[in-house]
Amino acid sequence: MKSLDVKIYMEAGLGRSAAGEIPLGRSVTPRGLSYMHSAPTWDPQQYLHHSVHRTRPFLDLLIRIPELPNEAGTARIADIGCGPGNVTALLAERWPTAHIIGYDLSPEMLERAERDHAGPTAGGGLLDFRPADAGTWTPQEPYDLIVSNAALQWVPAHADSFAGWIDGLVPGGTFAFQVPGNFTAPSHALLGDLCDSPRWRTRLGTHGRRYVHILDPADYLVRFEDLGCAADTWETTYVQLLTGEDPVLDWVKGTALRPVLTELADDPEAASDFLAQYADLLRKAYPPGPHGTVFPFRRIFAVARKAV
Ligand SMILES: C[S@@+](CC[C@H](N)C(=O)[O-])C[C@H]1O[C@@H](n2cnc3c(N)ncnc32)[C@H](O)[C@@H]1O
Repeated sequence: MKSLDVKIYMEAGLGRSAAGEIPLGRSVTPRGLSYMHSAPTWDPQQYLHHSVHRTRPFLDLLIRIPELPNEAGTARIADIGCGPGNVTALLAERWPTAHIIGYDLSPEMLERAERDHAGPTAGGGLLDFRPADAGTWTPQEPYDLIVSNAALQWVPAHADSFAGWIDGLVPGGTFAFQVPGNFTAPSHALLGDLCDSPRWRTRLGTHGRRYVHILDPADYLVRFEDLGCAADTWETTYVQLLTGEDPVLDWVKGTALRPVLTELADDPEAASDFLAQYADLLRKAYPPGPHGTVFPFRRIFAVARKAV
């Protein structure tokens, strides 16, 4: 956190509770939250451009989650890094009577989730969204399921939280997550290299690789087995066909480019220069074909069931 950020953060009264939740009574405005440790600004609209491709891995994860201990009653579910809430809402389709809480650090994402999905669910359950930092969040009540989709790559040392999160599950409860595993793919390697090039290094430093905090599926498996869980981990490369002009650039504008776009937000000319250079590199790495642009995307999955 930059010292100016710390000052504004403290003055805004945005301290986290011991559980990593950001107190609801505070003035949790988009402006206030955006100062916190220079977290990138998210754009739910941009992120949702590719919602069909982005939702598929979550559906594949969901299929592997076993029956919950309170399957037919009021199961409690936490979705860490819930984003705009569209995948959180899918949890309510599978567990219609559950009380589901989506946690996220981005005020923009939380606003969208609140607007589109918060409230009682058709099956008598409840969807609720709250600010929290996954880096410090700990369960304050027993959960049947803790889930996270495409978010933990943004959380350094997230695997160190696993013991506390498994502790917070009821016996037989599940922790399940999915993270991208494509950080050596051209889309991401080129972004890191460009940020590190002489033209951008001083300004963008490590912003091109801010999200790279993942382990291999085998490492996740060992961690969960060590914690006494029955673990199931795997990886899948989705061969995605994207359409439109510069579709890979459009994809990363919703995710990996957020730190760069946030850093250059007050300098549209620099942002436009950067995007032009990056678009050029991406066009060469992912040339459009007769049916569209093929964009392979590796993802890593883990499902860990606590002993009964
Ligand atoms: C790629 S989006 C995924 C959103 C949603 N889970 C989905 O699958 O559509 C990543 C989300 O992680 C959130 N995030 C990043 N770092 C976080 C942190 N430290 N604590 C909580 N949320 C975080 C971002 O704000 C963003 O909404």
